[in-house]
Amino acid sequence: MARNVQPAGQPAPQNAMEALTPEDAAGQENFDRIIAKDSRVEPKDWMPEAYRRSLVRQISQHAHSEIIGMQPEANWITRAPSLKRKSILMAKVQDEAGHGLYLYSAAETLGTTRDEMMDALVAGKARYSSIFNYPTVTWADMGAIGWMVDGAAICNQVPLCRASYGPYGRAMVRVCKEESFHQRQGFEILLELANGTPAQRAMAQDAVNRWYAPSLMMFGPPDDDSPNSKQSMAWNIKRFSNDELRSRFVGMLAEQVKVLGLTLPDDEIRFNEDTKKWEHGPLDWEEFKEVLAGRGPCNAQRLERRRSAHADGAWVREAAAAYAAKQAAKQSSTNAQKAAA
Ligand SMILES: [Fe+2]
Ligand SMILES: [Fe+2]
Repeated sequence: MARNVQPAGQPAPQNAMEALTPEDAAGQENFDRIIAKDSRVEPKDWMPEAYRRSLVRQISQHAHSEIIGMQPEANWITRAPSLKRKSILMAKVQDEAGHGLYLYSAAETLGTTRDEMMDALVAGKARYSSIFNYPTVTWADMGAIGWMVDGAAICNQVPLCRASYGPYGRAMVRVCKEESFHQRQGFEILLELANGTPAQRAMAQDAVNRWYAPSLMMFGPPDDDSPNSKQSMAWNIKRFSNDELRSRFVGMLAEQVKVLGLTLPDDEIRFNEDTKKWEHGPLDWEEFKEVLAGRGPCNAQRLERRRSAHADGAWVREAAAAYAAKQAAKQSSTNAQKAAA
């Protein structure tokens, strides 16, 4: 395990460099070369501890978000308005479980076990996206989540396909393909409601109104209040700043909402011809901090549900581990027999 903690792109203090073993110094040099070439770091490569820690934090938070994010939508599977909608929603929620699995696997390649990550989540020590602490009160919320929440996820995750850490970038490629389907299905739900009865149209508009600001806050705090972003960009993990991604997302919503024939609850949205960027009205960052600190409308409920699901699934994990041990024993006795023959 590497002992060096010097992030790439920052000059190391003289004495820190002197403290490096020859092996770590060569590793750092190789790492810096990979980053400078915009190439990929793989699990067996030497990497600075700060890079490893930062990735574990980001990837595990991302995995937790996928898993917790299943709850607000699973809430509507039994109440979907038709068999078609029910099967689409089930497929989408299952996709989110798959995203969680790809991401936990990617994080495991950095030396953190899935048990450690899961324990941190159920103990309430790990973060996940603040958006999933809002309630889903009507069927139209399935539309708004697909269009806006999965839409924001796409804006965020497409650049992550080029993240410098190989397993993370590769996991993102598949995730993004599935997110596109999620966004389309959400948009289509809203489109149908917006062209339905006045009550359905009002329900669609209400859902858009409620999910708009939380979806914009999914990109994280403003750039000048985002301490990890700069380093993450220097390491080629993050490619665009929070505000840059948010601005692109607003531009996408502003155009697509016209097709829906609905409105966004923000009369300050405009395209700034000078900066060539989309702008939006102020967001309530105090609310964001409250939700992130565990005091959002559904934080306690989401965590409690995850805890009970984790406890209820203990027998499955035990059975899977027992089966894997049995298979491994069988394999090693076959190998021993082959070797003896
Ligand atoms: Fe997802
Ligand atoms: Fe999704």
